[in-house]
Amino acid sequence: MKRIVCLISGRGSNLAAILQAASAERWRVAVPAEVVAVISNRADAAGLAIAAAHGVATQVIEHTRFSSREGFDAALAEAIDAHTADLVVLAGFMRVLTRAFVARYQGRLINIHPSLLPAFPGLATHRQALAAGVRVHGATVHFVSDVIDGGVIIAQAAVPVLPGDSEETLAARVLGREHVLLPRCVRWLCEGRIALVDGRVQVRDLPGESLALLG
Ligand code: GRF
Repeated sequence: MKRIVCLISGRGSNLAAILQAASAERWRVAVPAEVVAVISNRADAAGLAIAAAHGVATQVIEHTRFSSREGFDAALAEAIDAHTADLVVLAGFMRVLTRAFVARYQGRLINIHPSLLPAFPGLATHRQALAAGVRVHGATVHFVSDVIDGGVIIAQAAVPVLPGDSEETLAARVLGREHVLLPRCVRWLCEGRIALVDGRVQVRDLPGESLALLG
């Protein structure tokens, strides 16, 4: 049984997508994997209720209670390790993690970012995409490295940018694909089809084109 810990900061729609996929019968049979805990750095994160509704243990570790990033990350790592996590998923977790934290979970720490990296790292990605005038936008799941939004890319989902798009309409289109992309990546990692080997993604028993979700 692969043990997954999800870290969140807010809404939790990507978490919900993972939980739904994980509880589907085919996942349980084909991939014995389970979200064993959800940890939030904010007590008011709506995703906590989503986790509770799925019967998943929740924990709040407020970063504001710590005077340093190191202190917060150490508490976070302790909580994650208490669940003996095989995989740690940043599902809308809005904190920069220290180098030590990232190194501790190398190869088993992934993030979803709402752009086609390396374009538009950081915040307000949909605004950035509209300002740049790109015609294709999307989302990326990547291994986390100590460069923000700069880790090795696992898979990407692309959507068109349509005339008249606002940040909101574009964000909604991307989010719909995030909800397919992230659970898929989590499952592949649990199945051992994807691994980080020598700084590159190693793919096994997976059609290469499935790493690019188009349209
Ligand atoms: C998503 O757009 C994700 O890509 C980004 O933060 C947002 C989280 O949304 N990292 P949700 O909390 O999963 O609804």
